[in-house]
Amino acid sequence: MIKPPLSNRDGRLFIEEVSTLRLAEEYDTPLYVVSETKIRENYRRLSSALSSRYPKTRILYAAKANTNISILKILRSEGAFLDTVSPGEVFTAFKAGFKPGELLYTGTSVRNDELEYLLKSKILINVDSLSQLRRILDIEAPKTISFRVNPKAGAGHHKHVITAGAKAKFGLWEDEALEAYRIARDRGVEKFGIQMHIGSGILELSPYLKGVEKFFKILGKIGRSVGISFEFIDLGGGLGVPYRPEQNEINIEHFSDEVARLFREGVKQFGLEEPELWIEPGRYLIADAGILLTKVNTLKSNPTRKFAGVDAGFNTLIRPILYGSYHHILVANKLDEEPTETYDVVGPICESGDALARDRRLPRLSEGDLLAVLNAGAYGFSMCSNYNSRPKPAEALVKKDEHTLIRARESFEDLLLKQRIPDWLMIG
Ligand code: LLP
Repeated sequence: MIKPPLSNRDGRLFIEEVSTLRLAEEYDTPLYVVSETKIRENYRRLSSALSSRYPKTRILYAAKANTNISILKILRSEGAFLDTVSPGEVFTAFKAGFKPGELLYTGTSVRNDELEYLLKSKILINVDSLSQLRRILDIEAPKTISFRVNPKAGAGHHKHVITAGAKAKFGLWEDEALEAYRIARDRGVEKFGIQMHIGSGILELSPYLKGVEKFFKILGKIGRSVGISFEFIDLGGGLGVPYRPEQNEINIEHFSDEVARLFREGVKQFGLEEPELWIEPGRYLIADAGILLTKVNTLKSNPTRKFAGVDAGFNTLIRPILYGSYHHILVANKLDEEPTETYDVVGPICESGDALARDRRLPRLSEGDLLAVLNAGAYGFSMCSNYNSRPKPAEALVKKDEHTLIRARESFEDLLLKQRIPDWLMIG
């Protein structure tokens, strides 16, 4: 699992040219660390694979994976647009320098004031329901609109992240989508896009490719019967990354071959006018660019188990407890030592479920050892919380031998920032 941007130098874990031990010492733990070089490499690999096969390709980074402004700036400088899902993400995107025309908004259960904000800001809305469309048109008909279609089959690493099919709350079913495009056309909308996103963490290509095929059948029908063409066809996100040693990376050349082939066939079959191909990866761009550093503070055992208590819990990284996700763990200061022991790596949160890993084979640990939790760049910081009144961790960015904080660690004062004490409790 040690591959760039990670390396083993004399038994110690480096990220790019920087020692993780040095980072832990300078910025304390728990600490998220992100490699700028790796983000850029991930973006360029995907972008060149797709656009060499279908030049009118556009990559929209799914900001929810990690909304740090510096990360958004890095991806913008590579040419990415942004897939946003909340007014807060839009606000952050503007702060990072994105222009309204570089954003797509794919919301669900969207409020009227959010719609007003989006329309006023001239952001392209990817509409999720007929209700949302009606409420948009009550405010004003935008020039361009997109609809999210549910292609009736989903995929993903866990049931919580399968976002298409009958159980999913997302998107419009075929008949509804037809009606939606008709209504929009009749109200003077001039340009159209269409989107699907079937789920997240997809390592097996076939369900995704089947989804694309189904999607084309639906959108082909819509195009014909409503008499519109699409400016862009957005195939959503979902590309997975290997978290476990035995999992393989997606072969991105093969993926791009297949996607471009299906896309061209669909475009030809349904007489579409060379739309842009959009894709919205989050995890693929950022997961393996980030690690979480956490220190062992407590070793204890009972007759059957050994526990390694660390300073990161599910307040810091929620994926293991929320989805049962596996994150590989390295002992950053003992890379050359053999895994001889089995530990539950547990956090400081007062719940029994608070474990980053169970039954994990690791070298014999000592208190003070530094652990690196891999593939923590996506949905790590962005899902952390203040549970148990724990300040959120810091985030550092590494670029070759340079490193800096891109988010300061929260303080205790930060925890109380928004609390108010009523007058009647002020006495005494
Ligand atoms: N587009 C839309 C509309 C989405 O809802 C998502 C993710 C993406 C793109 C990006 O998906 P990705 O390429 O990152 O798989 N917290 C979960 C993942 C939830 C993803 C939700 N939507 C996790 O940690 O696995």
